[in-house]
Amino acid sequence: QSTTEIDLSKIAPGQAIKASFRKQPLFVRNLTPKEIAEANAVPLSELRDPQTLAERTKPGKTNWLITLGVCTHLGCVPLGAGEGENKGPYGGYFCPCHGSAYDTAARIRKGPAPLNLLVPEYKFDTDTTVTVG
Ligand code: FES
Repeated sequence: QSTTEIDLSKIAPGQAIKASFRKQPLFVRNLTPKEIAEANAVPLSELRDPQTLAERTKPGKTNWLITLGVCTHLGCVPLGAGEGENKGPYGGYFCPCHGSAYDTAARIRKGPAPLNLLVPEYKFDTDTTVTVG
C-alpha cells in the first residue's frame, strides 16, 4: 500500500509516535506551544537546512509535525518518538549512530547529517486523521 492513514486522536501534546510509511519509519509529533515557540525563535541564518516550522507543517496545524524517521546522514532511526525518550540537546530527535541532533521542527542542528528530517506528502482528511503519501 502506497498511502498510510494516521489517527492523531491519541497523540497528546508533547508526544510523538512512530508509525511506518512505505516500509520506512514515520514520526508523528504533537508539538506543545513551548516547542512551537522554540522552533519559531531560531533565526534561519543558524540553520544548516533553512526552513521555518510553518514550511514544514500545514496552515493552522503547526503543532502536527510529520516526518520520516530516517536520519539524513546514513539512515539510522533517530530517538525521540515512541520508544527512546532521548530527544537530544535541541529537544526534537537524536540520532545515536553518529550524534546528529534535530530540533523541535526536526531540523538538523548538530552532527553530521546534512538535511532536516524529510517531510512526506500528506493531507488532513479530518481534524484527527491524515493520509500520508
Ligand atoms: Fe544519523 Fe549518522 S546516521 S548521525
